[in-house]
Amino acid sequence: MATPRILSGIKPTGKPHIGNYFGMMRPAIEWQDRGEAFYFIADYHALTTVRDPKSLREFSRGVALDFLACGLDPAKAVLFRQSDVPQVTELSWILSCVTPMPMLENCHAYKDHLANEKIPSHGLFAYPVLMAADILLYDSNVVPVGRDQKQHVEVTRDLAHKINALYGKILTVPEASILPETETIPGLDGRKMSKSYENTIELFPEEKALRKKIMSITTDSAAVEEPKEPATSSIVALYKLFASEADLRRMEDDFRAGGIGYGEFKKRLFEAVWAYFAPMRARREELARDPGEVDRVLKEGAQRAEAVAIITMQRIRHAIGLR
Ligand code: TYM
Repeated sequence: MATPRILSGIKPTGKPHIGNYFGMMRPAIEWQDRGEAFYFIADYHALTTVRDPKSLREFSRGVALDFLACGLDPAKAVLFRQSDVPQVTELSWILSCVTPMPMLENCHAYKDHLANEKIPSHGLFAYPVLMAADILLYDSNVVPVGRDQKQHVEVTRDLAHKINALYGKILTVPEASILPETETIPGLDGRKMSKSYENTIELFPEEKALRKKIMSITTDSAAVEEPKEPATSSIVALYKLFASEADLRRMEDDFRAGGIGYGEFKKRLFEAVWAYFAPMRARREELARDPGEVDRVLKEGAQRAEAVAIITMQRIRHAIGLR
């Protein structure tokens, strides 16, 4: 492959958490040195759940700020708001015309909604098509995501193949990049970390709030003196992400030996998380001092993304007979 085009997105439905960070943000930041990276704030997608305009705007800026603080370099990667390049909704419509309904009926988010007896909106049903448009609009080769997005990238590949079979090879077929070690980060209750489960640890909470969250991690009722099982503990699973090999081994040995309570292990986890994000916290504070900076980055990102989108849409419109 020549220089790969890398693309990923994150929904501004709240503040980014460490599942987002390890599943997508950190890999995306690593990819920015290896190709042309396009990362966006999926505000159209967030409309399926966020109904308050002020919150949507604040969350969008907050996600951008966190991403920059974590090391996204606007000189290397294009950071933009999805809705600043509205061509994506046109492509979404075009794709929806070749999308079999059963393909969408099989997608998780829709099925979960039905299972919970909630009424899904058309936006939620069509969500994977808009996501396919995001990816295909930028001729993306690589899509760094967490495990939960794998199905959506597969839908994208299917749709690209369908369009290519109908109209000639006009779309690039992407591949998901999912890192096995960080594909599903557990939350405070051991289930997948997710805003909808309210089990998240945000990237930049106040010290006290972070401590409280970590102390609330669910454990079994083993007494202090009893040996404990590291392999099934969410404390260990999270500590693994932040600690050195030696510190991790020490925690695992201490679990098995007994004599130390979960509270002590949680304190170690807190220290590790707090130290890990310290440089990014400092960078975030610095960035937040100039509120115009995020806006400038997003504006320039939108221009660079739109320049690519215009060219792709010309090619697609021509191929399918709109022009
Ligand atoms: P979103 O906003 O739910 O999550 C953003 C990214 O974080 C990853 N992630 C996780 N990874 C590991 N463990 C977890 N517990 C965890 N929780 C979240 C997600 O897998 C994701 O990569 N549909 C997307 C946004 C999107 C998109 C796109 C992504 C819209 N268009 C095009 C890629 C390409 C979403 O809802 O992500």
